[in-house]
Amino acid sequence: MNKTKLAKCDVAVSEIVLGTWVMGDDEYWGHSDELESIKAIQTAYEGGVTTFDTAFAYGNGKSEKLLGKAIKKMPREQITVFSKLWRKDMTRDRVIPACEKSLRFLGLDYMDTYFIHYPSDSGVPIGETMEELMRLKEEKKIRSIGVSNFNFVQFKEAQKYGDIDVIQPCYSLVWRFIDGPEFKYYKRNNIAIVPYSPLAQGILTGKYNDKTKFSKEDGRSVAPLFQHPYFDGALKVVDILKQLAEKYKKTPAQVAIRWLIQTTGITAPIVGGRGSKQVAENLKAVGWVLSEKDYDRLDKASREFTETLPNFRNFFDATILPVQK
Ligand SMILES: NC(=O)c1ccc[n+]([C@@H]2O[C@H](COP(=O)([O-])OP(=O)(O)OC[C@H]3O[C@@H](n4cnc5c(N)ncnc54)[C@H](OP(=O)(O)O)[C@@H]3O)[C@@H](O)[C@H]2O)c1
Repeated sequence: MNKTKLAKCDVAVSEIVLGTWVMGDDEYWGHSDELESIKAIQTAYEGGVTTFDTAFAYGNGKSEKLLGKAIKKMPREQITVFSKLWRKDMTRDRVIPACEKSLRFLGLDYMDTYFIHYPSDSGVPIGETMEELMRLKEEKKIRSIGVSNFNFVQFKEAQKYGDIDVIQPCYSLVWRFIDGPEFKYYKRNNIAIVPYSPLAQGILTGKYNDKTKFSKEDGRSVAPLFQHPYFDGALKVVDILKQLAEKYKKTPAQVAIRWLIQTTGITAPIVGGRGSKQVAENLKAVGWVLSEKDYDRLDKASREFTETLPNFRNFFDATILPVQK
């Protein structure tokens, strides 16, 4: 597994980042087995993954605590840990205590990147949050600052108050809202991009069909891409993935992750997995190459689909918002 740097800063990132949301016993995903989750993290590490993503919001600290247990014996200087500040903690008085609490849960003295999970939904001025994050950086409790789920305008505003090295948007073959001038800006300015949900929460593994239904308790039951007709359009992209998977003797998930790894401007995808078997499968997205022709074929099918998508509020909320000019 190759390693790269998080753009302008010295934080090392493995070619695949392991996401641990599903391991947090979070209500969005339902119950997860702790021992199996720890085994999955260990499997990833043994396969060369040295970067792990978590957040306080994943099960109110449960994912952070679980990751803390799993990384306890790993040499600190060899691993990179991302966590995230939740919305309720964005005011001046709460940022530093929230970070310190996450560090306690993780069993760490410092975090490699601390992301603002979402823009404030209660009018907290972004300058206030950013100034506190810069203080955390000065105190060496965090090595770099990232923002997640910020639109371009929100990113530019946040950048006025401190150094942002990395963004964490949703981005995959079936969700490409940052494409265009925004993506070009990040590339030009060496802002790292670590996209989440690269398998579109399982769609791109090819295991679903148009009859698939999720229980009401599963967050995917209301997520935009799982609603018709968008689901049907996404499944057409999966058809191409399946053809390429057969050609390369890979799985659709491996091809979907590979496409992201080969996309210029993407630093490393954050891939989730429910257990060690899924994680082991996903690691096989490294060590081989999609030909330029096949990459382009997939890219074209992806664009044809994503350009039909309305302006959803986000990946988890199918509310359609007016397009801002
Ligand atoms: N910043 C943010 O707001 C944000 C938001 C979302 C995620 N994230 C981060 O990004 C990570 C990844 O995103 P994600 O977990 O939402 O989505 P993902 O990586 O697109 O999909 C993960 C899910 O797909 C299924 N899956 C994965 N590999 C599979 C395989 N080989 N075979 C069959 N099924 C497989 C599993 O769900 P089932 O087994 O249940 O089908 C798994 O939980 C998260 O863990 C988190 O760290 C960040």
